[in-house]
Parts: sequence; structure tokens; C-alpha cells
Amino acid sequence: MSVKTIYPKKGLKGEVRVPGDKSISHRSVMFGSIASGTTEITNFLQGADCLSTIRCFQKMGIEIEQKPDAVLVRGRGLYGLSAPEGTLDVGNSGTTTRLLSGILSGQDFTSVLSGDASLNSRPMGRVMSPLNSMGARIESVRNDGCAPLRIEPGVLHGIDYRSPVASAQVKSAVLLAGLYADGNTSVTEPALSRNHTELMLGGFGAEVSSGVLKDGSAVAGIRPCKQLYGQKIRVPGDISSAAYFIAAGLVVPGSEILLRNVGTNPTRAGILKVCEAMGADLTYLDRNTADCQAKQETGGEPTADILVRSGSLHGTVIEGSIIPTLIDEIPIIAVMAACAEGTTVIRDAAELKVKETNRIDTVTENLKAMGCSVTPTEDGMVIEGGKTLAGARIRSYLDHRIAMAFAVAGMAAEGETVIEDSQCVDVSYPDFFATLESLS
Ligand code: S3P
Repeated sequence: MSVKTIYPKKGLKGEVRVPGDKSISHRSVMFGSIASGTTEITNFLQGADCLSTIRCFQKMGIEIEQKPDAVLVRGRGLYGLSAPEGTLDVGNSGTTTRLLSGILSGQDFTSVLSGDASLNSRPMGRVMSPLNSMGARIESVRNDGCAPLRIEPGVLHGIDYRSPVASAQVKSAVLLAGLYADGNTSVTEPALSRNHTELMLGGFGAEVSSGVLKDGSAVAGIRPCKQLYGQKIRVPGDISSAAYFIAAGLVVPGSEILLRNVGTNPTRAGILKVCEAMGADLTYLDRNTADCQAKQETGGEPTADILVRSGSLHGTVIEGSIIPTLIDEIPIIAVMAACAEGTTVIRDAAELKVKETNRIDTVTENLKAMGCSVTPTEDGMVIEGGKTLAGARIRSYLDHRIAMAFAVAGMAAEGETVIEDSQCVDVSYPDFFATLESLS
């Protein structure tokens, strides 16, 4: 087992350029593969999840070249994928599995998707059900609603799907299948989830519509499509990765960290609102340098440089439609809450239970190990902050976001903290520990 020891720190200083956004990197390879012509991707995230996506498409005959400064995807059109030999290995990646299921539903060959133990225990009924109602033929090989999934050729029809969960993976799977359908497709979700698919597919030439209704629910629609066109994509820095350094800058006393080129798409930036509600000192820089893209767009995705200075935080309530915009950041938000004065309540976040681990359980267990008073609930947790955390042995359960969140907690704690299975950070941020150390 790989372990990492974290020591208490004071005064983190420096500049961090976080790696490319994971969700956008996945999509750029997927859409590039089914587009006609070459897609050139810069700042692609070389994390294990996105490499799983690359390998799946290479196995279906797509030439993908890793150059030092770009990834080139030689797309072969909507119907240009070829039948893979053997199982497509999706590793730890839910995004690969669910979005690929939508694309594979429209192909004329059989495919099987399977991943690691965590992935193969996550719910896939949420994509199988709408896709099969479009005419796809997806079955769970073990008949337990999870991967491995076998996908047989089917004839797809457009549907208007009402998703019970706000999930960009579900929405994207249905919209991608909609490219191959014989009529229009729409997905309504209870609140707006990340909209990278809508933005990027539009850029590739698909006819996509989207809007938020008065009651807060969101609708995205797509028309069947004959061709997508290869694009140049500059992937913005991942706000989900920046989140650990935002939190470190806030909770480690005497810190000042400048984060460069962070994606600030409002459907992802809930953590910034929560930081402000907790009294954080964040400054958005708008300097006119090549690095600082504040208020500019990268392929429809806004970015900013963010200056973080430590200060005292107070508890807050996090609930409702903001939840999908910060769902992956809840472990690190919980750590901030533990370091803040007063109580933080997180609710409406039952989706935490079906992430890489059950994050209500894994956050609760590890915060308790550090001496924090936390009560898990059915759809979130209640955290009593303000007591200095005590260094502890942290069980990451191979969940990258748990490992990174508690490494930050360790810096704000008294005594040593040991992160078990620390190499799991490779899933989304291979250089995480080196970058964290560079700030000391
Ligand atoms: C993702 C969507 C979210 C998120 C995941 C990435 C995406 O999952 O948690 O890390 O790229 O579409 P859900 O769609 O299950 O909420």
C-alpha cells in the first residue's frame, strides 16, 4: 500500500497551475473520436480516468496521438468506431462508463464495458433505463444494475426523459445517444448539473438547446446529427482540483496562494460561493496576461485566476440547487467546515453515496478520526467546526478526493497525518502531493 505522511504547516505560499479539467478532458476525446477530422486538445488532464477514455477509443480504432503539448484525436465520424477486441476497460471512471454507454448504444457492434471494483459497484441503471427506453440494448452482465455492461446494436428513438437525479453523466449519456436517434431527444433534471456536454457538443456542430425553468429544473435538448466536426480545445484548469488549494490557502494560517487559469463555469463553481458564504478571502484577478483569462472564455468555458488568503471561516448551510455545482467538492468543503467556527449543514446530497466511495461514510469516518464532531445524515452531514484537528491515519478507500481532502486537513492539524493508498490521487491529479509540498 502507498502511504503519504502529511505534517502540520504554516504559511503556504506560491502559485499553482492546476491540471486540465477532468470532465472537459473526457468529453474532448469522446466527441473528437466521433467527429470528422482532427481534434487538437491542449492542457488535457493526463490522469488515470481520462487515460481510460483514451484507451477505450484507441481500442475502437481511433488514432490518438500524445504530443508533448497537445493530444491529437483523429476522429472517424459518428459511425467510424470499430468493434473492440475484448472488454473496454473503464478503470475507476464513471464518466467514461456512462457517457460511452450513450455513444455505444448507437453503434452497430457489440461491446462490453467493465472497470475496477469501485466502478463495478456503482449504479448504472440510471443510464441503462433511459437508454434502453430509447431502443438501446444494454444489460448488466451480472444482472445487478452495475457494470460489466454488455451493449448490443439497437435502433434508437428520441425521447423526453425526466431524470430523477441532477446528473451530468446521465444527461450526457442520453444526449449522446440522441445524436444517433431518429427524432429529437430532451433530458429534464431537477436542477442544472454541469453543462460541459451541451457547450462542447454545440461547438462540434450538434444542435443543442438548454434552459432552466422557473421551478429550477433544467432541460437540455438535442437533434439527431449527421456529422460533428473536429475542434481545437484548450481545457481550462479543473476547479475540482483547484478546490484543494483554495481550501489549503484558507485553513492553513498565514497562507497566500495564487491559482492560475481555473475553470469557473457556474455549473461547477458552487465551492466559490460556499467559500464566500463562509467568510473566505478570495480575489478574482483580471490582469491582461496570457495566463489570466478572467471573464474570457475557453471554448465556452469561463476561467479566472484566483488569489486565496487565509482567514477565519464560519459555518454555513449548503443545500438545494447549489449541490450539483459542488458535488465533487463536498469532501474538501467538509474539511473547511471542520476548521470553521460553528456548525455547517450539508443536505440534499444523497448522490454522495454513489461516488467512488460512499462519501458520507468516508468523510464522516475520517473527520471523526481527526477528532471532529460530525453527524452523518441520509442526504449529507452536520459538522461542528472550530476544534483544532488532530493528525490521524486516514483511510482513503482508494477514493482520490478523500485522499486529497484529508491531505489538506493534515496540514491544518496538530501532529502527523498518514494517508493510506495515497497513489489513488493519480485518478485526477497525478502531481497533487508534489504541488502541495512546493507551497511549503
Ligand atoms: C461528472 C459528473 C458528476 C461528477 C463526476 C464527473 C461528469 O457525476 O460527480 O465526477 O464529468 O459528467 P454525476 O453525473 O453522477 O453527478
